[in-house]
Amino acid sequence: MDSREQQIIDSWQERARAYQELTDRWSIFGRLAERLIDLLPSPLEGPLIDLAAGAGLLSARLLHRHPQAQVYLVEPAEAMLELAVRRVGSRSIGHARVSAAQVDRVPLRAGAVLCSAAAHLVDENEVFPSVASVLQPGGRFIFNLWWHSWESTVHIDPGPRWRALLEQDLSELGESATLPAPTRPRIRTRHGFSQAGQRAGLDMIHTQTDTDRLPLAFFLDFTAMASDFLADLSPARRAVVLRTARARANAEVSIQTTRFVLQKRAARP
Ligand SMILES: C[S@@+](CC[C@H](N)C(=O)[O-])C[C@H]1O[C@@H](n2cnc3c(N)ncnc32)[C@H](O)[C@@H]1O
Repeated sequence: MDSREQQIIDSWQERARAYQELTDRWSIFGRLAERLIDLLPSPLEGPLIDLAAGAGLLSARLLHRHPQAQVYLVEPAEAMLELAVRRVGSRSIGHARVSAAQVDRVPLRAGAVLCSAAAHLVDENEVFPSVASVLQPGGRFIFNLWWHSWESTVHIDPGPRWRALLEQDLSELGESATLPAPTRPRIRTRHGFSQAGQRAGLDMIHTQTDTDRLPLAFFLDFTAMASDFLADLSPARRAVVLRTARARANAEVSIQTTRFVLQKRAARP
């Protein structure tokens, strides 16, 4: 694992509890997970892997809808995995603290691998082959991507709007603080996914883009999870700035997420 990948995992390790609270507060995460579950084949065959399982949101939804499903949790951040195991551990068939590229170490052959809100954090050239090797022939890799990491939706940029709100509040409250630097995720393309899929023996059989409206407060809450959020301010002042900005952040933004289904080629007779 390279240091960049480890840094990303560490950043989720430290935000684990904050992330679970965020997903409790904002239904978008549950909706994204539900939409992936909608794409599972019926009847469900074989074990399912929840890849980058986080605090277990997708697995919990899956087991609610399919109580007989055999779910295996894969998540590299220990604090996240602990939350997931606490949430669904007794109803899962196991778990492993490994990265997505190491999912081939999991000792089972899955009917499907699901991955919600995390594909932008990993490299498809490493993850697709590893996923392919844990899938049964005909098995499916079902995942989604936020707008910022997909070529067709990357034009959506709520950043300037929520940043302007924070700047306005800092100025009105007489505070000065460094705003978090804009992040520039790598943009995935249909061509890149198809090529990486072909090399791994996975055919892209479905894509679908969904639209949701989110108030600007969502983006403030997401950003505020980071431990260095407005780190120049005392915790009390930071809380005041965030509260004031949130109170004004009712304007809604349309965002888009895209779902993908890749199918492992059946073995030749
Ligand atoms: C936004 S959370 C999504 C969690 C969960 N899938 C959900 O829908 O709530 C992103 C998760 O990806 C995990 N992650 C980060 N880098 C990863 C990697 N290289 N391999 C697997 N998971 C990774 C993080 O630890 C975190 O739990």
